[in-house]
Amino acid sequence: MSRRVIVIGSGAVGSTYAFALLQSGLVEEIVLLDQNRDLAAGQAMDLSHGLPFVLAARVYAGGEEDLKDADMVVITAGAKQRPGQSRLDLLKVNAAIMKSIADSLEKQCGSEIPVMVVTNPVDVMTYALYRYTGWSRRLIFGSGTVLDSARFRYMLSRHCGVDSRSVHAYVIGEHGDSEVPAWSLTHIAGIPFDTYCGQCNRCNEDREKVKKTVEEEVRNSAYHIIDYKGATWFAVALAMTRITSAVLRNERSVLTVSTVLKGEYGLNDLCLSVPCIVGRNGIEQIIEADLKDPEKEALSLSAGVIHSAVKELSL
Ligand code: 2OP
Repeated sequence: MSRRVIVIGSGAVGSTYAFALLQSGLVEEIVLLDQNRDLAAGQAMDLSHGLPFVLAARVYAGGEEDLKDADMVVITAGAKQRPGQSRLDLLKVNAAIMKSIADSLEKQCGSEIPVMVVTNPVDVMTYALYRYTGWSRRLIFGSGTVLDSARFRYMLSRHCGVDSRSVHAYVIGEHGDSEVPAWSLTHIAGIPFDTYCGQCNRCNEDREKVKKTVEEEVRNSAYHIIDYKGATWFAVALAMTRITSAVLRNERSVLTVSTVLKGEYGLNDLCLSVPCIVGRNGIEQIIEADLKDPEKEALSLSAGVIHSAVKELSL
């Protein structure tokens, strides 16, 4: 089966994702789309010149008609966050882009296929695309807090001196300021974080203070990077490649993608991130994790933030 991924938006995030995807060997074709066709053409040429060093694949700039035979669509198109702007500031501009992409998907795709939204504010944009297309909620999902969960695991790994791949931890809720690090789901070596922390002996710091510092580092990561270099693109591209792998290889991986909730966690009519099983059909299952009361409250507050943004769009 040919694996063909269409990447809409050829800026820093779209092109870095294409670069990571090319090296992953997961796909046979990567098609780059952008309103600025020269940009897509230039990125495709640049990527193609690296083909002798990776597994065989094709990379080219295409048009709307290429959506026809796609196995998966990934949307990165949109205005990006500028210093001092929150992800929610991008709301209306990017919702209009989602509407035009929804029209193209309707027109070109014979059947519904997995679509991953990365454009910020990602939870609202994912919900907007879901409403504009009317497609199954399993197939329209967002990159959500997969990146924040990676940042959380990295910060904890540095603090505890353990390989980040051995730290199991999830950030849930909004991919944004109201996100919720779910400490009650955090494990190292299968041991709950608090128990692990009690036997770690690496530092004498107060545990609650450590947690607060880690939470702040995770929440403010993107702001720091945007201040330094204008935007983020490397880690998000790897997070996107991880999600793509789960879909194309039907891995059934547990990932905190942004998904449409219909009663799960007591929430309705919005997208936010919770642990989901991700496979060929997109969201194969939403996992209802056993959260502590303060985490449930924080998740409801996060949902409130997203709900008010969704309301502004009158979808
Ligand atoms: C990030 O978290 C800005 O959403 C982007 O890196």
